Amino acid sequence: MHSKVLLFALTLPALLSAQNRIVGNAAEAEAGRGLFRIVCAPCHGIQAKGGRGPDLTTGVFNSGNRDEDLFRVISQGVSGTEMPGYGVRFGTDNIWRFVAYLRSATNRRAVASVGNATAGEKLFWSKGACGQCHRVGQRGGPMGPDLTRAGRKRSYEYLRAALTDPNAELTTGYYKITVVTRDGKTISGVQKGFDNFSAQLMTVDGVIHSFLRENVQSCEREYVSLMPSYKSWSETELNDIVAFLVTLRGDL
Ligand code: HEC
Ligand code: HEC
Repeated sequence: MHSKVLLFALTLPALLSAQNRIVGNAAEAEAGRGLFRIVCAPCHGIQAKGGRGPDLTTGVFNSGNRDEDLFRVISQGVSGTEMPGYGVRFGTDNIWRFVAYLRSATNRRAVASVGNATAGEKLFWSKGACGQCHRVGQRGGPMGPDLTRAGRKRSYEYLRAALTDPNAELTTGYYKITVVTRDGKTISGVQKGFDNFSAQLMTVDGVIHSFLRENVQSCEREYVSLMPSYKSWSETELNDIVAFLVTLRGDL
């Protein structure tokens, strides 16, 4: 609490002088890189090329391309997403060190866009039946994660791996619950609630089922995906569908 007050009480000239001292200075960028590897790499990758979080080396940022924009997003985070704010924990100088590092890591080589997003969009709604479980804008089903902002939230590699190996990096919270009722019926779906006494799950039709554990034969939670693997698809189909996912930036 105290440090938060200090951070935001900093005067504009003090902020600017820290920026001028740190951004563009190679030693500070190196210090930023060291911190980044410990704090940010779990989501953005050891070289900032992305993973669970977006690639930060393309030179283009959704939150704006000025140093101040990066400073803001790293200090405050992006609310409603996995991106936490670091201002309170690290303080102004360290936030500028992250900015300095990201500036030095920029690799403007355009990411080779191999797929055809229009063909990918067709596959998404037809052959892939992705819309059965995923929403994009107003369309689609609710059992899987909403993909409206997938291209903004996730890196290319993460999206591609999600298709061919859904269990590799399970989206947090989307665990599988299987209940066998007293009359022998098996129902599986995504966990909505789970404790010692009860379980709630959503089936693929979007219906939420609630059970008291004492009233069912068995109730099991597994850390596996309910998404089928698309490993058997051709390279072209996979490239197309990922090209479509990359275009999803939340503006629908
Ligand atoms: C727990 C995972 C996680 C960690 C740890 C994390 N980030 Fe993020 N970060 C994300 C996600 C997810 C997004 C995309 C948010 C969205 O949907 O807009 C993001 C977005 C960003 C953006 C904005 C990208 C853009 O295009 O505007 C920057 C910059 C950023 N992170 C830097 C960092 C830095 C620097 C650190 C370490 C101090 C860090 N992140 C730690 C997950 C994480
Ligand atoms: C039967 C339901 C179902 C179908 C069909 C399905 N998915 Fe999924 N998908 C899920 C579930 C559940 C998750 C969350 C668990 C996980 O990480 O695999 C998920 C996760 C994902 C993720 C990771 C999202 C994130 O932000 O972490 C992506 C990307 C994705 N699916 C894309 C697709 C695409 C593209 C298709 C069609 C080719 C598809 N899915 C078909 C249920 C489904």
